[in-house]
Amino acid sequence: MSDIAPPASVPANVIETLPIVIAPSPILKAHARAVGSADQDAVRALIPRMFETMYKAPGIGLAAPQVASGLRVIVIDLQPKDQRAPYALINPEVVALSTDLATREEGCLSLPNQYADVTRPARVKVRYLDQTGARLEIEAEGLMSACLQHEIDHLDGILFVDHISALKRNMLMRRLAKEQKLKKPDARR
Ligand code: NI
Repeated sequence: MSDIAPPASVPANVIETLPIVIAPSPILKAHARAVGSADQDAVRALIPRMFETMYKAPGIGLAAPQVASGLRVIVIDLQPKDQRAPYALINPEVVALSTDLATREEGCLSLPNQYADVTRPARVKVRYLDQTGARLEIEAEGLMSACLQHEIDHLDGILFVDHISALKRNMLMRRLAKEQKLKKPDARR
């Protein structure tokens, strides 16, 4: 007799979120590895959970290392709930950056409540694989450009605070540590 019913505690239509890794953590400093053909099932399972985790947080971008996966996968959706525009990028690669720069305030789900102005190339061109394995390219400016660069940075162990002065970074990391400690007085981490 086959048993195909899902466990009662997890309805089939509910996608579970993943815990988000908070800085500082060695997980966020590691280099993610390229997705290969042997990773197809893992990626197929990972991407919906990454979207769910990002939407619930809420956030506009999430990289696999932030949910403790070592694969080169990022998800982005800049739109509000009623106009979703989800992007899942596998093995994203920056192929061109503009010489002109743009500064905007950035935050990160791995550094909750911390924000800083970050200066990056204003425009970016990224090559990637979509979920069907098609090779695509995206050219972006504005928020999408910053978000792509921010998320791809995560795959190489780089956080937005690595783009600001050491003085500002240390201040922000100290504030984060203090807030995390207050939030979880019983945490044994
Ligand atoms: Ni981030």
